[in-house]
Amino acid sequence: MYEGDIASVLISEDQIQDKIAELAGIIAERYPVGAPEGDLLLVGVLKGAVFFMTDLARALPIPTQMEFMAVSSYGSSTSSSGVVRILKDLDKDIAGRHVLIVEDIIDSGLTLSWLMRNLRTRNPASLEVVTLLRKPDAIKVDVEVANVGFDIPDEFVVGYGLDYAERYRDLPYIGTLEPTVYGG
Ligand code: XMP
Ligand code: MG
Repeated sequence: MYEGDIASVLISEDQIQDKIAELAGIIAERYPVGAPEGDLLLVGVLKGAVFFMTDLARALPIPTQMEFMAVSSYGSSTSSSGVVRILKDLDKDIAGRHVLIVEDIIDSGLTLSWLMRNLRTRNPASLEVVTLLRKPDAIKVDVEVANVGFDIPDEFVVGYGLDYAERYRDLPYIGTLEPTVYGG
């Protein structure tokens, strides 16, 4: 698939799936099953987190429920400005629930810090984050991310939910693109 477009495979399908199993084990230990707050609520950020969310939910040995949010940050397609707009909000009230935000990638961290502030105002019982990928710049922003899959170099990556112009989300691995794809 996408013959000639992928410059390198940064994280293989096996590496992703092994990491998800590891994260699922760690996360499951922190949430009691049968709590009065109800099942753990996974909040996925569309669209990038979809593959990670579905694989994580199936790897977790505890019952979970799913909600999705879509946000857009003003700015160019490859960097965010910190000004965030809600395109699709949660369907349900999260007050009193244990919430785990599921993110594909934290780059500047601006999107996530905005999202954390927004969801905290809705009074969840707890609010944590799991992200598959994190870039070095994310360190600059003061957001507490309990669970990180992989720290990656500051390069644009695609696959496993991540897109360039809506393409490549369906790749089972994380890779970088040939410059020719960007019109280079
Ligand atoms: P911030 O900078 O707010 O942005 O942490 C996070 C969002 O930016 C997008 N993003 C990427 N998308 N490959 C992508 O396909 C990348 O390398 C990349 N880096 C950042 C993504 O939408 C993420 O949620
Ligand atoms: Mg994108």
